[in-house]
Amino acid sequence: MSHSPLPPSVAFEEAENKGSNPSITPTIGDIIATRLSRRDLVKGFAAVTVAAEIVWPDALAAAPSSEPATPGTSFNFTELAVQPASETHHVAEGYDADILIRWGDAVLADAPPFAPGKPDAAAQMKQFGYNNDFIGYIPLEGRSDHGLLVVNHEYTNGELMLPGLAPRSDKDNTFAGITREIVDAEMMAHGGSVIEIKRENGKWSAVPNSKFARRITADTEIRISGPAAGHVRMKTSADPTGTRVRGMINNCAGGITPWGTWLTCEENFNGYFWSKSAVEPITDEARALRRYGAPAEWYAWGRFHDRFDVLKEPNEPNRFGWVVEIDPMDPTSTPKKRTALGRFKHEGAGNIINSDGRFVVYQGDDERFDYVYRFVTDGKVDQENRAANKDLLDTGLLSVARFHADGTGEWLPLVHGQPNKDGQVWLSEANGFKDQGDVLIRARLAADILGATRMDRPEDTDVNPKTGKVYVMLTNNAKRKAAETDAANPRAENLFGHIIEITPADGDHTAPTFTWEILIKCGSPAVAEVGAAFNPATSENGWFGMPDNCTVDADGRLWVATDGNSPKKTGRADGIWAVETEGPGRGTARCFFQVPIGAEMCGPCFTPDLETFFVAVQHPGETEDDGALSTFETPNTRWPDFKDGMPPRPSVVAITRKGGGKIAS
Ligand code: FEO
Ligand code: CA
Ligand code: CA
Repeated sequence: MSHSPLPPSVAFEEAENKGSNPSITPTIGDIIATRLSRRDLVKGFAAVTVAAEIVWPDALAAAPSSEPATPGTSFNFTELAVQPASETHHVAEGYDADILIRWGDAVLADAPPFAPGKPDAAAQMKQFGYNNDFIGYIPLEGRSDHGLLVVNHEYTNGELMLPGLAPRSDKDNTFAGITREIVDAEMMAHGGSVIEIKRENGKWSAVPNSKFARRITADTEIRISGPAAGHVRMKTSADPTGTRVRGMINNCAGGITPWGTWLTCEENFNGYFWSKSAVEPITDEARALRRYGAPAEWYAWGRFHDRFDVLKEPNEPNRFGWVVEIDPMDPTSTPKKRTALGRFKHEGAGNIINSDGRFVVYQGDDERFDYVYRFVTDGKVDQENRAANKDLLDTGLLSVARFHADGTGEWLPLVHGQPNKDGQVWLSEANGFKDQGDVLIRARLAADILGATRMDRPEDTDVNPKTGKVYVMLTNNAKRKAAETDAANPRAENLFGHIIEITPADGDHTAPTFTWEILIKCGSPAVAEVGAAFNPATSENGWFGMPDNCTVDADGRLWVATDGNSPKKTGRADGIWAVETEGPGRGTARCFFQVPIGAEMCGPCFTPDLETFFVAVQHPGETEDDGALSTFETPNTRWPDFKDGMPPRPSVVAITRKGGGKIAS
C-alpha cells in the first residue's frame, strides 16, 4: 500500500470513514473493492448512455416517469451544465457570484494586509481564517441588505497555505518542517469570524472597522456550561474548575438560533491530539477516547502545546466536540460550550421552535456508523425578550434516533438512570456512567448501549419551515457491508450517500416518535449498480453525490452543498444542487453552482428576503485522495492566483440575481 501524503480533508474523510464504532472491522478486501468499483463507475460514465432501471423508494414510486422535463419545478433558473474541473467557480446563467471575503482578508480594524508565504499568528488572529464552512446571516434591524455574517473556520491545509509543506505531514510521523510559528498560525486560522456586511448598489462588501468584527480562534477563552460543566472529566491543570477552555476547533457546520446567536459545531477534534500510546493500555478512559478516534495526531499542536498531548493533559479532549453558542451582537461576550447537546463529532445544528415554544435542535455525528441526535430544551423560547434565552440551551433532553424498517422511528433519551419503556436502566454506573455528565461527555458510548441506528455518516440537518419536515444529509459509507444494510441505510458500499426526511409525529418536534422516508439516493441514475434514486425528471446535470451541508429556503425547498464529487468519482465538481421537496417534482435536483477544482462546497445561507445566497468555497486546489488532482497535477503551481505569488484562498461567495429579485422564485 502506498503511504503518499494526504491533505487534511482526506484525513478527516479517512477518520470519518474509518468508523470508531467498535463492531466494525473493515478489511483490505473492502478497500480494494471500493477502489475497483470507483474505476468501474468512471467507465460507466463513458459507456452508459441510456438510463438504467432505478429502484424507487416508496415515497417516490408515485412520481410518473412520463412527466415533462421538470414536472412541478418551482426553480426558475436555467440549470448549470456540470463541469468536471475548472479553475474558477460557475453559477447558473443570470446570476452574479462575487467573492465577498477570503482567507487572510482583514476582519479586525488593525489587521495587516494579507502577506502569504510565511506563518504569522499575530496577523492571522485579526484576519479571516482558513477553510470557511458554516455561514450564518444575522440581519441588523431586520434588514436583508445589512447584517452580520458569522463564518466557521474548520481546519487548515498546510500544503496550500505555505510553500514547501507536505500535505498530511503526520503520515510519516515526523511533521517535517512544522515549527511552533506554523502551529501557532494554524491555531489562529481556526475558529470563526464575525463580519458586518452591507449591500449597496446591488453589491455586498464587508464594513471596515465594524464594532461587531470578531475573530474566535483555537485560543479564545470559552466557558463550559450545562450539565457537564465542572465535571471531574472536564478538569485540567490549567482549569481545575472544569468550566473554562481555550478555543474551539474543527468547527464544521452550525445553525442560527431564533434569538440571533450562532451555534458552531466542533467536529473532528480528535485529529488535534497527540500520543496514541495513551490509548494502548485498554482502560476505561482509553476506550472512551478510542470511540472518538482520539488521539489521532493529524497536526503537530501537541509538540508545542502540552494541552494537546493526552499523556500530559488526559482530560483536554473531553473539552472539545461540543456545540458552541456565540452572541455575535456582543463582541465582548464569552462563547459557551453547551454540554447539554452532547459530545460527538458535531456537524450541524438545524433547529426550530416547536409549537409549544420549546427549542429543538437536530444534530448529526459525522462518522461512519454514527448517529442522528435531537435536543429539546426544557424551557420555552421568549421571542419578545432576547436576554431571557441566554442560557436556554443548558437544560433539556438529548435523544438519539432509531429508525425502524416500517418507516417509523423513535427518539431514545440519553438520560442517566432513567428506565426505558421496558423498565431497563442502561445508562447506569454498572455500564460506566456515574452521572449525566458522563452520559453527555461520552454520548457516543451511551447511544451505542441504547441501540441507536448506525447511519451512513450523518452530516448537516435542516428543518423545512413550511412543512416541519427535517432533512438529514448522509454523505457516504463505503464500509457498510450487505449484511449491515437496513431500511434507513439501504445500500451496501454506499459511495454517494442519501438524504433522509424525518416527519415528527403530529407535527410535534418533541414527540418520542417520528416517521421517515428517503428523499434521494445519490449518485448517477445512469449506472444501475449505483442504485441511485432521484425523480426521473432530473437531468444529467441534476444528480450529485455526497450531500454534506444544506439549507431549506423560506419556500420549503432544499439546497444541498456537496463534498467529494470529482472528475474521477462523479464526473463533476462539488457544488450546490436545488432539490424539490414536495409535489410532482419532489426528488428532482438541479445544478446551481460549482466550485473550482479541488474545493468542496459549504455554508449555504440565504438572506431573509431570499435575494442573496452565500456559499463557502473550502480548500480550493486540494488534491484528491490518491494524490492526483485530475488535470492539475501540481495545484500550487498551476493555480491561477498563484501566478501572482498568491495561493488559492478559501472564500465566501455572494450570489445575487442580475437585475435583482429572489434567487429562485
Ligand atoms: Fe466537516 Fe462532516 O464535514
Ligand atoms: Ca461538512
Ligand atoms: Ca465536508
